[in-house]
Amino acid sequence: MTTPPAAGADLSAIASELAATGYVIVPDFLPRPAGEALVTEIATLWHDGTYRAAAVGRGGEKQVRAEIRSDHVRWLEPTDLTTAQSGYWTAMEELRLVLNRELFLGLFDLEAHLACFPAGAHYKAHLDRHRESEARLVSAIVYLNPDWTADDGGELRIYTDREAAVKGPYLDVVPEFGKLVLFLSGDFWHEVLPSRRERHSLTGWFRRRVE
Ligand code: OGA
Ligand code: MN
Repeated sequence: MTTPPAAGADLSAIASELAATGYVIVPDFLPRPAGEALVTEIATLWHDGTYRAAAVGRGGEKQVRAEIRSDHVRWLEPTDLTTAQSGYWTAMEELRLVLNRELFLGLFDLEAHLACFPAGAHYKAHLDRHRESEARLVSAIVYLNPDWTADDGGELRIYTDREAAVKGPYLDVVPEFGKLVLFLSGDFWHEVLPSRRERHSLTGWFRRRVE
């Protein structure tokens, strides 16, 4: 008997679409039981105050700038995952291996945090790759919001023309439960629009080795 995949999606199809356009949106990527376990867990983690105001910049230049981003985050510890987090991690690991096998991306690990945007919070347009490091290659966001509707706001706006950036066309992604969004971290400008409800997600970056 083979073990069922942790990701509820066709990973090869995801890899092909990423290669073709540089971004992919996959509804129902995370199997329902794995997603529900996370929703239960984050209700406690968030309400117990274990998240921290997210910072912008890197290293010594890191600072909280709520006018740029007003979400709160809690990093996952890969060596100390809860059972709920392991379901997510295993799905992402399967995806990482398929991306490497089919696109030769040489992704060697994942860094990920839980994020909460309280009602009204936002994140202004940005690229995910830091100026000082080219390590982040693919951004991967999984949404954990049961019963989210388009009226709740909080869309992820992806500017789909890499050259035109924020002056070009965009795609608004509704942060629905179990949905995965992947895009090339250094290529696509994106922002999070304010929502009417508390908005939860798991945001990860697949990294490659850099000198
Ligand atoms: C980020 C980010 C998008 C989202 O954390 O860098 O862009 O939809 N998040 O939560
Ligand atoms: Mn981002």
